[in-house]
Amino acid sequence: MTKDGDEKVPGRSAKKPARRTTRDASVRVKKTNQRTTSSARWLQRQLNDPYVHEAQRLGYRARSAFKLIELDDKLKFIKKGCTVVDLGAAPGGWSQVALERGAGKVIGLDLLPIEPLPGVTFLQMDFMNDDAPEALIMAMGSGADVVLSDMAPNTMGHKQTDHLRIMALVEAAYEFATQVLKPGGTFVSKLFQGGAQKELLDMMKRDFTVVKHVKPPASRKESAEQYVVATGYRRPL
Ligand SMILES: C[S@@+](CC[C@H](N)C(=O)[O-])C[C@H]1O[C@@H](n2cnc3c(N)ncnc32)[C@H](O)[C@@H]1O
Repeated sequence: MTKDGDEKVPGRSAKKPARRTTRDASVRVKKTNQRTTSSARWLQRQLNDPYVHEAQRLGYRARSAFKLIELDDKLKFIKKGCTVVDLGAAPGGWSQVALERGAGKVIGLDLLPIEPLPGVTFLQMDFMNDDAPEALIMAMGSGADVVLSDMAPNTMGHKQTDHLRIMALVEAAYEFATQVLKPGGTFVSKLFQGGAQKELLDMMKRDFTVVKHVKPPASRKESAEQYVVATGYRRPL
């Protein structure tokens, strides 16, 4: 499980899940000797989460698929035939959505192994490895229209260290995006704690026509997670 708790869903175009009504019986999970308080809380949250149920029903690999659906419904950046790079792709929910929305080529990368998905090339490697950008460029064959990053490191519980690790991933993803995006392309990245740092945000505003911070409804309210969506890449001359 990562920082925002986007757990893998066991198990397709998707509808926004209906919220449980007050008449729905919510499921309570009792703590046992074998089950710690935090795992009981996790299980209870999973059992009562409408996005988890809908992801299962529609065959999405993770509830986080709905976050990309909501971001793309709002800003419409996944176009027919486009090339999408999906960083931090495991277990594959965002890649499923990109394909479903008409992407022609999807390249996903993660530290973790990913079950094959027809139409998607998955690379298992650390994005922070020096070889990762080249491996992605080889797999793409040409430039990208969309670079997505949902990467989130496992947190250590030390706020400043966690923040630095997250920002290092966002900055590396941004640098990669500016190397491979075609003019007019889109960069989407997960962020935590109050959005992008000023310096990064200034660069994004210089390099893209529109930069927005979005908290999609599928992102849990209690999570500090949000997304930056930068559209209209202006390739430097
Ligand atoms: C929230 S999950 C992504 C969920 C995915 N968007 C989906 O819908 O299935 C975050 C992922 O980032 C990956 N990750 C974290 N650090 C990484 C790194 N340095 N290189 C590659 N992947 C990384 C984790 O392994 C994890 O699978």
